[in-house]
Amino acid sequence: MLGGSAVMAGITRRLDPVARAERTTLITGPTGAGKDVIAQSLHARSRRCHEPFIAVHCAALPDSLVEAELFGHAKGAFTGAFQARGGLVRTAERGVLFLDEIDSLSLGAQAKLLRFLETGEFRAVGSDQSEKSDTWVIVATNQDLRGRVQSQLFREDLLYRLEVVRIDVPPLCQHRDDITVLTAHFLGEVGCQHKYFSPAACRRLASYEWPGNVRELRHRVESAALLCDATEISEDELGLPEATEPATAASGERTVKATLWQMVEERGMTLAQATAACEKMLVSAALEAELNNRARAAARLGINVRTIYKKLSVPPGSS
Ligand SMILES: Nc1ncnc2c1ncn2[C@@H]1O[C@H](COP(=O)(O)OP(=O)(O)O)[C@@H](O)[C@H]1O
Ligand SMILES: [Mg+2]
Repeated sequence: MLGGSAVMAGITRRLDPVARAERTTLITGPTGAGKDVIAQSLHARSRRCHEPFIAVHCAALPDSLVEAELFGHAKGAFTGAFQARGGLVRTAERGVLFLDEIDSLSLGAQAKLLRFLETGEFRAVGSDQSEKSDTWVIVATNQDLRGRVQSQLFREDLLYRLEVVRIDVPPLCQHRDDITVLTAHFLGEVGCQHKYFSPAACRRLASYEWPGNVRELRHRVESAALLCDATEISEDELGLPEATEPATAASGERTVKATLWQMVEERGMTLAQATAACEKMLVSAALEAELNNRARAAARLGINVRTIYKKLSVPPGSS
């Protein structure tokens, strides 16, 4: 993990104590800020470093399967369950289970997870036998979990449990001092350590907003280095949007397209999964715009309140 800025040094200092304590840990921060890197670093620094690190993208798991994926299922638990199967909690035994995008876990799965975190016990779907697993659970989110508690999409008791050990990763624009070191590192990663950025390019790297954070920096630096024939990489080759470019509909669409494609690539999503994820985001945006008033959010989207629950995969009546 790179970054000598005061903020990043503050985070790095906490990693060893957190890794020693092995308590359930919540990592928050915007997309691309380095949440995965921190989770992996915690694993590497812990006594569990030679045991599995199992990462789960909660948003990519359909709600109907998420409990079975995490906790396993008994034979005959549902149609097609011809054999009992262990879940990821079992696979991660003695190691780390990293639950990314924890905000998208269904309320049912949240309840089971809370029980597991508190007792170390869980039940496979369709089984009445309690089992135990020794797994260090690390979770991450780029969402405001408090806001989701308010809209009754996230369990408050689970949030209290998760907040005990918490690492907040700042957006890159809040630790610009690290840009130089990160840039040099990413140049080296693609074998271009002999290349460098022109003074204008350096200024641009230092002043750009980086909405996609370290991930965006990495992509920009690596592709500029690989595509540029000269040793000096110019500002143009960075391909960053004009500083003063007004957010036109066309540039907005380009950004949305790039972001969606990145999501599909990173999570290996199908069109149907990506569409469902987009609907979820729009419903959640409508809820935010309407201050969590579900009736008004539904009206804005031209759907009924039940559909809001369905799109967010919250069973009706669970609030
Ligand atoms: N502190 C860091 N040092 C080196 N690389 C980093 C750092 N933070 C992020 N990265 C790189 O940026 C990219 C995005 O990081 P990631 O941890 O996947 O972000 P997040 O999980 O928050 O979306 C990855 O390629 C990662 O290697
Ligand atoms: Mg991530």
